[in-house]
Amino acid sequence: MADLVDLRSDTVTRPTAGMREAMAAAEVGDDVYGEDPTVNALEAEVAALFGHEAALFAPSGSMANQIALQLLVPPGEELLCDADAHVVTYEIGAAAAYGGISSRTWPAVGADIDPEVVARMIRPDGYFAVPTRAIAVEQTHNRGGGGVIPLDTLRELRGVADDAGVALHCDGARIWHAHVADGVPLTEYGRLFDTLSVCLSKGLGAPVGSLVVGSAEKIERARMIRKRMGGGMRQAGILAAAGRYALAHHVDRLAEDHARAARLAEAVAPFGVLASTVRTNLVPLDLTKHALDARALAAAARQEGVLISVLGPRTARLVTHLDLDDEGLDRALRALPRILAAA
Ligand SMILES: Cc1ncc(COP(=O)(O)O)c(C=O)c1O
Repeated sequence: MADLVDLRSDTVTRPTAGMREAMAAAEVGDDVYGEDPTVNALEAEVAALFGHEAALFAPSGSMANQIALQLLVPPGEELLCDADAHVVTYEIGAAAAYGGISSRTWPAVGADIDPEVVARMIRPDGYFAVPTRAIAVEQTHNRGGGGVIPLDTLRELRGVADDAGVALHCDGARIWHAHVADGVPLTEYGRLFDTLSVCLSKGLGAPVGSLVVGSAEKIERARMIRKRMGGGMRQAGILAAAGRYALAHHVDRLAEDHARAARLAEAVAPFGVLASTVRTNLVPLDLTKHALDARALAAAARQEGVLISVLGPRTARLVTHLDLDDEGLDRALRALPRILAAA
């Protein structure tokens, strides 16, 4: 893939030389015994970043989300989230399969949540209906084009959750991008949620790893759930070292990814391809009004050495990330308008 410009996802990044050095030098131990110093340091660091008591290193964002949901929602009870949320779209039914959790969704609105709509969906305790136990939001919103939920909306949602006595979870796989785009401190996000999952292997460029963040009591239980799900890792410090390096070196630079995404959005706009909501590193392409459908566009782009994602018949997506430099961006900026203009 070296000579291709890969815009399919921010998960395609490879560890940098500095990151590999940090991994090679990592002190390790058996993390199932709680004896890996690098994992312990990463967990403490991430908990502090969000102003929470504790955090737990997990192999993937999906597992981190599902551990958090099992912490918040007992079997047979209910989670509310967006119809396009990652937790109900791309986690292969895990909430139901592993947690026995019943999920109900509000219509897909990405980051544009109306807290009153959510409040009206909440069902109270009682033997006659499924009681709502948690609300999950996604910051930034993946299928919502990298949209950033405004801080005021999150505060209102916290109020809704408190009034109803339900928990609030954040799928913060790309919360770093929201932090950089809106300048909201991570501690400010942290204090609004009972649990967060945050990912080191999307924009931050680590090869593996996410963390569940929450109270000490919740993270103690999370450790059991992770082991039950097969996520207990041994000398995981090698991976945690990559995560620590990513946090130290790759958060502020996300602004570069956002700027490159904005340039891609501008380049496709003249061809009736709607990419107007771009705030962070995801550029959704709405091809409803274009002669090319998503598959045809992806095939033509591949011919030009540019890889893009097909999300639906007329929806494609471009993603900027650590492994995309200005040379790659320029190739994409030349190829995509040429293909769109020719159709
Ligand atoms: C918003 C969001 N949450 C969770 C995940 C899951 O991460 P993983 O692929 O590590 O399971 C992703 C993956 O892209 C994501 O975009």
